[in-house]
Amino acid sequence: MARNKYSEPDYWSKKAFSENYPARSVYKLEEMNKKFNLFSPGDKVLDLGAAPGSWTVYVLRFLNKEGRVTAVDLKPLDSSVYDERLSFFQGDMFDKGIIKSVKELGPYDAVICDAAPATTGNKTVDTARSSGLVELAIYYAQEQLKQGGSFVVKIFQGGDQQIHLNNLRKCFKTARAFKPEACRSSSFETYLIGLDFKG
Ligand SMILES: C[S@@+](CC[C@H](N)C(=O)[O-])C[C@H]1O[C@@H](n2cnc3c(N)ncnc32)[C@H](O)[C@@H]1O
Repeated sequence: MARNKYSEPDYWSKKAFSENYPARSVYKLEEMNKKFNLFSPGDKVLDLGAAPGSWTVYVLRFLNKEGRVTAVDLKPLDSSVYDERLSFFQGDMFDKGIIKSVKELGPYDAVICDAAPATTGNKTVDTARSSGLVELAIYYAQEQLKQGGSFVVKIFQGGDQQIHLNNLRKCFKTARAFKPEACRSSSFETYLIGLDFKG
C-alpha cells in the first residue's frame, strides 16, 4: 500500500492514542481552550464536523454531569464515543433538518467547528469550500449562541479569512485568528476564534 505523507504517527498522534482520543486534532482544541477559556463545566456545546470525535470526547471529559454536547458530521463518530450527555446527528450541516434538530437542543454556550471539506489538491477550490463551511458555522453561532458564548472555526488560509474575521468582530467582543502548535507545519489551516458573543 502506498504511504501518504501523514502515515507515520507523529508525537501528537501517539499521544492521542495513549490518551484514548480518536484523533490528534484534540490537542488543537485543548490548546485553544487553555488559552481562551472556551467552556465552563456546565455548558452546552455544539460540535460541527465532529467525526471521528476527539473534540467531542475532550469536551465531554471537560464538562460536568450537567453539561451537554450536540455533535454533527457527515460520517459516524468512532464507535468508542458514547455518552449519555451526547446527541449526535449524522448528516450535512447545510441540511435544513439538521439545522432544525440542532436548534431544538440549543441555545449553546459554545459552537466549535473543525469541519473540513474533502480536499481536491486544488487550493482555490479547497479554500472556497472551507470558506463556505466557515460562513455556515458563523450562521449557526449567530442563531444559536447564548450571549457571552464562544466560537471556534477551522479555516483554510488563503481565501476569505479577513472577511470572516471582520464579520466575527461585529458579533463578538473579541475575534482573532490562532494557529495551534498541534497543527501540522505543512498544513494551511488555522482557526478563527470569537469570544463573548454580543447576542
Ligand atoms: C478534521 S475532521 C474533524 C475532526 C474532529 N474535530 C475530531 O477531533 O475528531 C473534519 C470533519 O468535517 C466533516 N465535514 C465536512 N463537511 C461537512 C458537512 N458539510 N457537514 C458535516 N460534516 C462535515 C468531515 O466529515 C470530517 O469528519
